[in-house]
Amino acid sequence: MASIRIAGTGSHVPERVLTNHDLEKMVDTTDEWIVQRTGIRERRIAEAHMNTSDLAEQASVRAIDAAGISPEELDLIITATITPDTCCPSASNWLQAKLGAQNAVAFDVTAACTGFIFALSVAEQYLKNGSYKNALVVGAELLSRTVDWKDRTSCILWGDAAGAAVLKNSTRGAELLSTHMHSDGAAGNNLLLPGGGSSTTPISEDSVKQGLHYLKLIHANKTFKVAVKRFAQSCEEAAAHNGCAMSDIDLIIPHQANLRIILAFAEKLRIPREKVFVNIDRYGNSSAATVPLALDQAARSGRIQPGHKVILTAFGGGLTWGSAFIHWH
Ligand SMILES: CC(C)(COP(=O)(O)OP(=O)(O)OC[C@H]1O[C@@H](n2cnc3c(N)ncnc32)[C@H](O)[C@@H]1OP(=O)(O)O)[C@@H](O)C(=O)NCCC(=O)NCCS
Repeated sequence: MASIRIAGTGSHVPERVLTNHDLEKMVDTTDEWIVQRTGIRERRIAEAHMNTSDLAEQASVRAIDAAGISPEELDLIITATITPDTCCPSASNWLQAKLGAQNAVAFDVTAACTGFIFALSVAEQYLKNGSYKNALVVGAELLSRTVDWKDRTSCILWGDAAGAAVLKNSTRGAELLSTHMHSDGAAGNNLLLPGGGSSTTPISEDSVKQGLHYLKLIHANKTFKVAVKRFAQSCEEAAAHNGCAMSDIDLIIPHQANLRIILAFAEKLRIPREKVFVNIDRYGNSSAATVPLALDQAARSGRIQPGHKVILTAFGGGLTWGSAFIHWH
């Protein structure tokens, strides 16, 4: 039966590795502290000439190739990012031009670390109602451009990456059975990137002095606790919606914010560690890119097998959180 399918995935990370030992030379921190508190050992940083759409292009080419279609066959491109090349045009427009996907409509979705799941959900609706046939959904971030390299609490967390998936209304491929999205704007003040928005434009000497162009974590501890709760709720909602118990789920692919957050919500749900995909040690938190990067790595490495029930889940700035449920074929 035709349904919404993931026909191909792809990902890309920059070559340059920034280790915790490198960070020891930049701020007052240690490899031991970072590993214990976050699980991160290293992250990738893009070269200065690279833009978000360049990372997205590399990931997208792999996803399009895996789906066995040409860029011209794409009719929808949605990129989730909080670090677009420019506010206007969107990162998706730049990506469209680079891919030569001239038959697509292209736009961005802003939902921070939950962005890929929101973008997946938007594409799902268009494919379901028949408006479009082949959608490219991307999560891509150049977070290193927004990092305050003097702030030891936040600079250790972020990395650059991109991941992509091609969605089709088809009889073949991994079935996207549901998506769920949630937002709480009233609690959004603790994760902020003010720079570039109308509240800080035009850019002034004063706004630069205040560091408003940096991604800010305020009360990171509080966000940590909310994240654990929202990740757990999202997984429960996805499983219940599809008539599954938590024990029926073969793999959870969570947004990679902090290993302790991941382990805490897994424990809360009594999910064994081997059923949770973790790559935060190598890539850190690349916001909207972590979920599609992890999905691609899990698919290509054989960690996801035919028949597996997989939940993607994320939480992030906005606040936003949500899930996607996939039956792998
Ligand atoms: C940021 C985060 C890793 C900090 O870890 P934590 O265990 O909460 O650490 P705390 O902020 O309580 O800081 C503990 C101590 O370590 C210090 N510290 C902070 N960063 C440090 C660093 N990089 N190296 C060494 N010490 C550090 C603090 O100054 C504090 O010292 P004090 O006890 O003398 O005041 C963690 O809170 C987190 O991951 N929060 C969620 C992040 C988030 O919002 N991500 C995006 C949403 S998905």
